[in-house]
Amino acid sequence: MSHVHKTTCRVCKGTDLTRILSLGEHPPVDNFTDAEHIKDEKRYPLEVYFCGTCNLVQLLDVVAEEELFHGDYAYFSSASKPLVDHFRSYADDLKKEQLTEGDLVVDIGSNDGILLQNFVEKYRVLGIEPSANVAEEARKKGVETLDGFFTVEMARQIVASHGKAKVISANNVFAHIDNVDEIILGVKELLADDGVFVTESHYLLDLVEHMEFDTVYHEHLCYYSVKPLQHLFARFDMEVCDVRRVTVHGGSIRVYARRKTGEQVTESVQALLLLEEQAGLHSLARFADFQNEAEAIKDKLVSLVRGFRKEGKVVTAYGAPAKGNTLLNFCGFTAEDIAYVTDTTPYKVGKLTPGSHIPVRSPDILKTETPDYLLLLAWNYRDFILTKEQELRDRGAKFIIPIPNVEIV
Ligand code: TMP
Ligand code: ZN
Repeated sequence: MSHVHKTTCRVCKGTDLTRILSLGEHPPVDNFTDAEHIKDEKRYPLEVYFCGTCNLVQLLDVVAEEELFHGDYAYFSSASKPLVDHFRSYADDLKKEQLTEGDLVVDIGSNDGILLQNFVEKYRVLGIEPSANVAEEARKKGVETLDGFFTVEMARQIVASHGKAKVISANNVFAHIDNVDEIILGVKELLADDGVFVTESHYLLDLVEHMEFDTVYHEHLCYYSVKPLQHLFARFDMEVCDVRRVTVHGGSIRVYARRKTGEQVTESVQALLLLEEQAGLHSLARFADFQNEAEAIKDKLVSLVRGFRKEGKVVTAYGAPAKGNTLLNFCGFTAEDIAYVTDTTPYKVGKLTPGSHIPVRSPDILKTETPDYLLLLAWNYRDFILTKEQELRDRGAKFIIPIPNVEIV
């Protein structure tokens, strides 16, 4: 069973679910392929629903974890320099506000150790990562890492072997989990009484305000906002005690949750709830034009790129992030439209993008070749990349920025 369609909300179990966006059928975005394996590629529906009860925005089509996060996974967080800097400052916050030396920090979905590497000297760390090739990178940095998915059973084993954790984090992974109940039950087993569970997820408010619809892909099951998260933690006698907006991935929320204490939570929680309410995130009406807005971006991009190709211009793409594959496939682009895409992840280089089958090349090629246009798929690093590629731009290359508005710079 590699795909199921759910009929209940992941957070509140309600059935008042309305489809707000349909992007068609897509292969999993991190399943980079090669000529030999194209025939094995599977596509699944990519459709977004709104829950009328707790207001969680979510996918109901769930692709088996084994198919998404297998032994050979393409996403290494540390391939993006700005992300490395972000997790260093995140670690600094936790050291200052939550931890004393020697405490245990556990990271669920620890990837290549991007967060935990910042703690190894003075704290105890344990990563949990299902993708074996990515976990191996973390171990090279001295980050002890368990293979597999976090479960209640695993939490009990960690308590027995390492003791309780002062901080448990789950970044860009909490929203990827179908059975959130199991994760929270595991967190409650493992967390010290005065510990915090901290998550970062792409934030729905940024998604709707900046039309970041390309961040919809099968791995992202939930598009969180504060309201459904409060609902979720309350079911487990926990509470959201602090929230912060952070800029990574086009705008994310960092959410701190703890066992319910009855003590005051920070003002930011109420402030963000109010902002969500004002932005219409708690009502279905806000999403009425979502489909049309996504289609409008697609139409603009397709006519631009195909227009340039007709003029004989060379168009390539810059960065092959997961969301880039949603955009490429939604637009129906192929190697006829986009000659190649460059990416800093060694693992992706030499492969083909899923679905669109565009060759991934090392960014070194841009030292000698000057495409006329580069579609910036990693638009969340726009400023960083435009600065880094000044020399390429001086040679005449132009960037097509797809999100939030199609623009050429
Ligand atoms: P991310 O947004 O999830 O970090 O993914 C960004 C992707 O873009 C990742 O595959 C690395 C790639 N990338 C580049 O190719 N060049 C760059 O300068 C940056 C920042 C990222
Ligand atoms: Zn719900």
